[in-house]
Amino acid sequence: MAHSIPLTSGDISRRRTLAAGIFGLGGLIGAVYIVAILRYLIPLGNSGDTGFEDVGPTSQFKPELPMRVPLGVDPSGKNATGGAWVIQHSATEYTAFDMHCTHLSCPYNWTSPTSTEGVFACPCHGSVFAKDGSVINGPAFIPLRKRAVRVQGNNLTVGGLT
Ligand code: FES
Repeated sequence: MAHSIPLTSGDISRRRTLAAGIFGLGGLIGAVYIVAILRYLIPLGNSGDTGFEDVGPTSQFKPELPMRVPLGVDPSGKNATGGAWVIQHSATEYTAFDMHCTHLSCPYNWTSPTSTEGVFACPCHGSVFAKDGSVINGPAFIPLRKRAVRVQGNNLTVGGLT
């Protein structure tokens, strides 16, 4: 026959502290997962980077051939913090996609560097996007994010996310 030992107030206090610690830790872990899931599901939207950057003369672009341009180049001219894929549709019409995949932000590439026919492919997890930015294959399910573009004189400028 088992004998039960009465709990002291110290035992109860330790149990409550332990339970509160476990719930607190569980809540913290849950919050981290929720933030990660929301970060994955919700596009970043406008990064706040609304300034337009000169990315060079419009003459460097070939009609309908995607070309990657650097953004946020440091004063040394060697390092860039970002970039965009620019497609020239006409002398005054351009599309610019942010260079980061909408899955987990890896830089993606145009699969046919010298051809206007191709797709944007992300090397990290295999997402594929059409030339209009729509998703062909996941895991990404959000189309490529567009950036604002303006022709200013003979140059093209690229701005923030639209
Ligand atoms: S970051 Fe591009 S597919 Fe995952």
